[in-house]
Amino acid sequence: MTTHAKVRKAVLPAAGLGTRFLPATKAQPKEMLPVVDKPLIQYSVEECVASGIENIIIVTGRGKHAIEDHFDVSPGLEHLLEKQGKQDQADLVRKISNMTHVSYIRQKEPKGLGHAVWTAKELVGDEPFAVLLGDVIIDGPKPATRQLMDVWDATGVGAIAVEEVPRDQLQLYGVVDAEPAPQGPWADRLLRVRELIEKPKPEEAPSNLGITGRYLLPPEIFDCLERTPPGRGGEIQLTDALRLLAQEKGLWAYIFEGTSYDAGDKLGFLKATVEFALKNPEFRDSFRAYLKGLKL
Ligand code: G1P
Repeated sequence: MTTHAKVRKAVLPAAGLGTRFLPATKAQPKEMLPVVDKPLIQYSVEECVASGIENIIIVTGRGKHAIEDHFDVSPGLEHLLEKQGKQDQADLVRKISNMTHVSYIRQKEPKGLGHAVWTAKELVGDEPFAVLLGDVIIDGPKPATRQLMDVWDATGVGAIAVEEVPRDQLQLYGVVDAEPAPQGPWADRLLRVRELIEKPKPEEAPSNLGITGRYLLPPEIFDCLERTPPGRGGEIQLTDALRLLAQEKGLWAYIFEGTSYDAGDKLGFLKATVEFALKNPEFRDSFRAYLKGLKL
């Protein structure tokens, strides 16, 4: 069996303005909005760690310092908690900074998701890497990023996570046109990408498979991004660069196992909050009782 370059790095774009979540994001990064007790971006970082990623590159921008502080050590806070006898909390805080190795690079202009990924080019180097969009939390038996890494390890071809999306929601997604390419253990879950359209009008959507914020890309994507002109909204779209990649190197659309929550959207955020609260051992029983008692 041929072995393909190991996936060690992940890029987490976090430079967006978070306009879908105003006014909460006026003075704080949307990546720091908490779902139950963790900021959104921590879910992506934990997914990376659980997938075996060793290096995380966060693409930030102006006003995003809180993200760096969150993953840094906080000696003052740790010391204070220890002094107060709150060892559990001190350990919890320390664990976040010890979780993995994180680097930061700034996207200086808001030129779109494709440009944000391209900004990480020098830090990624000549190796395959994962991309995780922090708005999307995916919960399931196996981390979605790990599932994509398994496809890469077996095939050496890039892969993007997709799922079926209701027709009236497709204009919020990149949508793929793909043909079945059953193989290995994946059977119907693996499709070969023929075409991708970023946020199509309902009549233009080539299928009901939307891109769900997880990507496993070979380094050739950087060259594709450099050849990608501004697309929808005048921005460099990752989806447009993926079209070049699909034509030149091939690309899988992979129907991942798990449930996704678009927590970058107010309603999706509420759903994620309720469902993750119902899974939290600390208070799931009392929260369930509270919800049951609501007169709706
Ligand atoms: C981005 C991508 C889109 C993808 C979506 C998933 O859009 O451009 O292709 O389907 O994430 O959440 P955004 O939601 O950032 O506008």
